[in-house]
Amino acid sequence: MDFLLAHSKVIQDPSVLKGKWKTEYKYKKIVLEIGSGKGDYWRKMADLQPDTLWIALERDKNVSAIALKKDSPENGVWIVGDAENLENWFEMGEIDTVHLNFSDPWPKKRYHKRRLTSNLFIERMLKITSKNAEFKFKTDNKDLFEYTMLVWEDYPLKLVEFSVDFRRTEKSDDAITEYEQHFMDLNQVIYRAVWRKQDVK
Ligand SMILES: C[S@@+](CC[C@H](N)C(=O)[O-])C[C@H]1O[C@@H](n2cnc3c(N)ncnc32)[C@H](O)[C@@H]1O
Repeated sequence: MDFLLAHSKVIQDPSVLKGKWKTEYKYKKIVLEIGSGKGDYWRKMADLQPDTLWIALERDKNVSAIALKKDSPENGVWIVGDAENLENWFEMGEIDTVHLNFSDPWPKKRYHKRRLTSNLFIERMLKITSKNAEFKFKTDNKDLFEYTMLVWEDYPLKLVEFSVDFRRTEKSDDAITEYEQHFMDLNQVIYRAVWRKQDVK
């Protein structure tokens, strides 16, 4: 898609930046959002945190184009690609926070491996994240939430925040995603958890 090839915010070959993101962009902290959809969260959070580089990752080209037709944040860049390539794009320890917002639930058991919180993906994410990195996960899907809590139990991660109704109170430091707004409009609860990476002894 020509629009994406020409867009200044799209990183055409992220592997060229492997190990160099912080020096190239001159930010001390890097946040990666995986499955950014139409980019509302990326845009709003980057504005809230101007000292941080916000990298959006989205594999769907059409959705990426919709996101990038709106204004892009100064401190934000976009990757059109699949999270299965994370280790080709980022060096060990390079990312400080990972956000997963309303990841596809893949309800059938035979597709659980495709979930962005499956063993395969958390292992990739653990490799590219820094020592005390945080993983922030929101979903409307009870089954995916339970699954993630159980799968991530086996990794060096400490659960530091947990809510089964995250939007019960106003949260000025966390933007509402497109999917989140949809579920809130339906009066559905939002599940949310945050984990911090632990040292392996
Ligand atoms: C349900 S949508 C949620 C979009 C947005 N985060 C929100 O909360 O409104 C999930 C998004 O994740 C993207 N996605 C799913 N698996 C992915 C993967 N392996 N790599 C990159 N993006 C992925 C999908 O294309 C889709 O746009």
